[in-house]
Amino acid sequence: MQIHSAIADLRTALKNRGRVVFVPTMGNLHAGHISLMEQARAHGDTVVASIFVNRLQFGPNEDFDKYPRTFQADCDKLATAGVDVLFAPTEADLYPEPQEYTVEPPAIQNILDGEFRPGHFRGVATVVLKLFNIVQPQAAVFGKKDYQQLMVIRNMTRQLALPITIVGGETVRAEDGLALSSRNGYLSTADRAEAPRLYRLLQEIRTRIQAGETKHTDLEKMATAELNRAGWQTDYVAVRQQSDLSPPSGANAPLVVLAASRLGSTRLIDNIEI
Ligand code: PAF
Repeated sequence: MQIHSAIADLRTALKNRGRVVFVPTMGNLHAGHISLMEQARAHGDTVVASIFVNRLQFGPNEDFDKYPRTFQADCDKLATAGVDVLFAPTEADLYPEPQEYTVEPPAIQNILDGEFRPGHFRGVATVVLKLFNIVQPQAAVFGKKDYQQLMVIRNMTRQLALPITIVGGETVRAEDGLALSSRNGYLSTADRAEAPRLYRLLQEIRTRIQAGETKHTDLEKMATAELNRAGWQTDYVAVRQQSDLSPPSGANAPLVVLAASRLGSTRLIDNIEI
């Protein structure tokens, strides 16, 4: 696997490499990321991954400084997964001057996670567009675990007419249902044992909606109350339309249940499609 940190070197390395498929990450890779790399292989000739902890998408009180950085272990995993090229820029490579030109997503950036993480999706969209311009892939793979992020990127790609196919990768879960996430490593032993409750509740909501329950607000309140009784601090549990994450309107619109809740100091997000 080739590793490049300079934009010019990466561009040279990617000349005449056929169809390029890109998987951007912030490192601290787990089986969920590796599954995205494997899916990427099916969409092109050259798989390019990136590792960059993007300061722009972290709020002032968030975990940018303590975000786990495990570069050598990540490189080993990517090489084993058959990734061809890794782009691992420093902050000086990617942001040699203050990034004053940014991508401002529309209203979707202010709902759900955006309500609790102001500016987060601006930071994500800005770095992803910049990475797309650098790597110039024909396809890119993003995990469905970050459901709202995937939608922001899909919409940005479509509206800005970027010639890139966006592929959504299924969430990989531990045996007890917890969605794999780089932030799971922050969980204490007790919190790790408690954490699967989030997915169990999403499954319960799905089962009840499939059985005909239509009072979505009651289901959201039930799950929020159960989480909070068990010691979580819940930002939201929301039943939304898959198409645009707005509250359900039509009877047959495909739905997704999304949740974000804090266990100890760890904020977990998850979702389930119906
Ligand atoms: O999902 C992530 O890891 C990040 O938000 C991304 C897409 C790599 C942008 O920094």
